[in-house]
Amino acid sequence: MKLTHAVDYLNGLLGDRRSPEVAIILGSGLGGLADLIEDPLAVDYHDIPDFVRSTAGGHRGQMIFGSLGSVSVVAMAGRFHRYEGWSNDETAYPVRVMQALGATRMIVSNAAGGVNPKLKVGDIMIIRDHINLMGGTFAFNASGRSRLGQSSRHPIYDESMMEAARVAAMRADFSVMFGCYLATLGPTYETRAEYRMMRKIGGDVVGMSTVPEVLAAGELGMKVLGLSMVSNVADPDRPNVADHQEVLAAGQDAAVRMEAIVRGVLA
Ligand code: 6GU
Repeated sequence: MKLTHAVDYLNGLLGDRRSPEVAIILGSGLGGLADLIEDPLAVDYHDIPDFVRSTAGGHRGQMIFGSLGSVSVVAMAGRFHRYEGWSNDETAYPVRVMQALGATRMIVSNAAGGVNPKLKVGDIMIIRDHINLMGGTFAFNASGRSRLGQSSRHPIYDESMMEAARVAAMRADFSVMFGCYLATLGPTYETRAEYRMMRKIGGDVVGMSTVPEVLAAGELGMKVLGLSMVSNVADPDRPNVADHQEVLAAGQDAAVRMEAIVRGVLA
């Protein structure tokens, strides 16, 4: 996979627009944030060289360039998932493209199941750490691997962005929890025994995305903020009734609060 085709194509479309400083990945039901982008330039994924096709429902499949307040951004409305059959490299490919276009920071969001019993549907959690039960390897840049520093070998979420997110939530008068995102390959949800295990090993929410993008961003030296919207509760003592409609409905309520956080962090 070469970045140049996609990067040259997008730079051509961008012309003399400012290059994006912040990359934003919008998860299931959170795509509404894309509508807030001022002076938007939307590009369909299928027009971008080497992009794979997103098939999950509720996804627009576009990169939207523009600004939020004074910050130049590029947002992905819809992302690629490992459960669609894509590799880590394919899933994280857009992150490499957005970084090559100029983004030095990334805000990544997702809809996830609440494993921690304190979490309710519609809550937002700031990702402080993750547990990767998704596995998979990256081939991309493998030759450069030995040159990587310690920080990219141990992916971390950016402290100052986390703090900015907390402050933004506080100012908008709602509370957020900091917690651990546990990633599974999917596409199925979990058994009750698995939810019990996830609680025990320290997962607060569980989802099927985000980790490949965060790993790539970390490797590229980007600062990363991760936000999870609790779309359903993963309760080992209750049958799981989550479906895609439920995920989308919870997203509409939480979207307003998610917007407040993103705006606050950018400001
Ligand atoms: Cl309950 N599990 C997983 N693996 N992903 C999810 C989820 C649950 N809810 C939303 N995404």
